[in-house]
Amino acid sequence: MGPGREREPPAARKRVTRIRTSEGWYGGEHRSGRRNPLAYAVRMPLRVTALTATEILDSRSRPTLLVSLEDEAGRKVTAGVPSGASTGSREAVERRDGDVDRYGGLGVQRTVMAVEGEIAERLSGEEWRDLESVDRALITLDGTDDKGRLGANAIVGVSMAFARAFALGAGIPLYRSLERGSVASRLPVPHFNVVNGGAHAQNGLAFQEFLLAPLGAPNVREAVRAGAEVYAALKARLHADGMSTGLGDEGGFAPAISEPEQVLVLLVDAIGEAGYAAGRDGVAIALDPAASEFRRDDGLYEVGGSALSSGEMIERYAAIVDRYPVWSIEDGLAEDDQEGWVALTERLGDGVQLVGDDNFVTNPAIIRDAVEAGIGNAALIKLNQVGTVTETLEAIDVCRGAGYAQMISHRSGETTDDFISDLAVGTGCGQLKSGAPARGERVAKYNRLIVLEREERLSYGLPGRP
Ligand code: PGA
Ligand code: ZN
Repeated sequence: MGPGREREPPAARKRVTRIRTSEGWYGGEHRSGRRNPLAYAVRMPLRVTALTATEILDSRSRPTLLVSLEDEAGRKVTAGVPSGASTGSREAVERRDGDVDRYGGLGVQRTVMAVEGEIAERLSGEEWRDLESVDRALITLDGTDDKGRLGANAIVGVSMAFARAFALGAGIPLYRSLERGSVASRLPVPHFNVVNGGAHAQNGLAFQEFLLAPLGAPNVREAVRAGAEVYAALKARLHADGMSTGLGDEGGFAPAISEPEQVLVLLVDAIGEAGYAAGRDGVAIALDPAASEFRRDDGLYEVGGSALSSGEMIERYAAIVDRYPVWSIEDGLAEDDQEGWVALTERLGDGVQLVGDDNFVTNPAIIRDAVEAGIGNAALIKLNQVGTVTETLEAIDVCRGAGYAQMISHRSGETTDDFISDLAVGTGCGQLKSGAPARGERVAKYNRLIVLEREERLSYGLPGRP
């Protein structure tokens, strides 16, 4: 320890105190008054004895990977890899077989071989001390900018499995191993996607997602209850109106409605019928139009019966947030409509959360540029968009440094893996979207939050709430 450290004031010294226990080294006092075991977690060396992958199905009946890892102590973990449909052009690239005789070319047998061959060879045997070193090794091994050689689906599955193995080795819940410095863990507001359109349904509805956000709920279990009760009220209402209650890819209803405002009327009615207040004190609404999917080659946005310029689209949103309790809009404009995004942010950014997804792709460098350009005020965070847990956490750090909010997200193709619930809790970002309050792969995430609420002492809601 150098002389500089000795001159530190007593308070600062206290923060770096290490306490030796019978089990190992712990960090100093955590903000919440508990010891922060992260320091311990990163010091627990991990030696992998088996790293395998299996081709399984995702929730849309497409092949994906289940990565399995076993360590020297015989501990086993798995990670299910998600996959999107409305992907940003700069996302990390999934590797698929392209053999049209199997799953129409979507098989992942070669990706399985990449995990069990090259990746296992590189990562087995060596003693790993932290996730960041593992992820850097994966990035270097792949050697491409978009992780397309080994496959982002292979890399993200391995990264998630290692994150789990480190937490298990340290004897802490996954979310605690993902905690970030000064930000306290908290239970996020679940965003329930209850009406599906766009690339997730075949109903002629341009906007991809209409989400319920129980911002005013006192805790997660009441938020989940609100989501389920409004979902049931909406189903009854659609049925009574003679509309389809068939589901889209994320478990939301996919009625044949073409104008987004018509859906918003239904949602406000359903919120009221279920006995909740529509708005930020009760159940608010969030939108993910995923506008890249309905922008035509001539630059116009095709919504229901109209073709709108970027400026007209912005005014449509302004009217929507005026009339309906919409608190957040994701991908309101297309990823290549930079100018439109700046104008949208200037017009609505003070009162509405504007989330970048297709344009930000959870990429720290891209988000940094977007902040510089004045685009949006929040980012969607998806592990497989960037391809490692470490880079995902970096993207969150960039957002935080810039005052941008973060919403952790599933993909339209999911497994029952609930990693993102712990990611949302540990990073304390306050927002998680995981589809409808229905279907096993969607509710797995919400149920994990309910269990964490029961087992741990955690606050609920957007950051800043008590
Ligand atoms: P995707 O959609 O998983 O199909 O890309 C989710 C989203 O756009 O947020
Ligand atoms: Zn999106």
